[in-house]
Amino acid sequence: MRVAHTTSEVRRQLKNLRGHKTIAFVPTMGCLHDGHMSLIKEAKALADIVVVSIYVNPLQFGPNEDLEQYPRPFERDAQLCEKAGVDFIFHPTSLYPKSGPKVTLKATKLSDSLCGASRPGHFDGVVTVVNILFNIVRPDFAIFGEKDWQQLAIIRRMVNDLQMPIEIIGAEIKRESDGLAMSSRNRYLSDADRLQAVTLSQALIAMQALAASGERDVETLKNRAQEILTSANITTQYLDVRNATSLKSKRKLNNQSSRAFIAAPIGAARLIDNMPLIYNSQESTI
Ligand code: PAF
Repeated sequence: MRVAHTTSEVRRQLKNLRGHKTIAFVPTMGCLHDGHMSLIKEAKALADIVVVSIYVNPLQFGPNEDLEQYPRPFERDAQLCEKAGVDFIFHPTSLYPKSGPKVTLKATKLSDSLCGASRPGHFDGVVTVVNILFNIVRPDFAIFGEKDWQQLAIIRRMVNDLQMPIEIIGAEIKRESDGLAMSSRNRYLSDADRLQAVTLSQALIAMQALAASGERDVETLKNRAQEILTSANITTQYLDVRNATSLKSKRKLNNQSSRAFIAAPIGAARLIDNMPLIYNSQESTI
């Protein structure tokens, strides 16, 4: 495994491989967990060469967010990558000019709601850095976790709208044994927070079960989840059901694919989760 710290090093190292080897890319902010490992596994199955970037991107953090505290255990991350068979790590110190970037991308409509509503500019920072990373690595495939579903939907649109020759792959959410979605931010949770945090996935599972039993009405589904969250003293930042691709709000489940989304502050962490809602029309007519 090779580790590159500068753009020119990565470009040089990948230059001779391009054309006769396929490249799969897993962009990360480090502090790797089993969720990231599953992205790497997916990347290895897809392509000859796997590149992982580790870069805590300042442009996607708001002024009161956890940029400074964000964990950066690089040695441990590098060992995990080595063990998982990663070929290259790209670990830049910065990806922006010293005076700050003067040209950036904007995610527009898809970033107005859900996480974008409480994190203004976050997705602009994400699409800008992902675009920079894509320009450096020039992968055939890029793999993103479905936990950040809104991010994945926006990146799919970026690649589509800007005609980038890259196939975007979404990888299923990895969960702890009790259902909590894996996240680098779970390490901010105290034992008591950790117990409370599992309620997020429980609320989503309850919505799934209700939808599977034939309930189409989104308000009813949300009320069920809200009951569970309230009994665990959780105040959500959002709880909503959206079209999985357009992220438009839904009032009734239908044949188009729907997802339930949730975000809540728990202890020092802000956690997000999402699950598909499959409406069983057979049950409702019985
Ligand atoms: O999902 C993440 O870890 C980040 O948003 C990403 C895609 C690496 C961009 O900084």
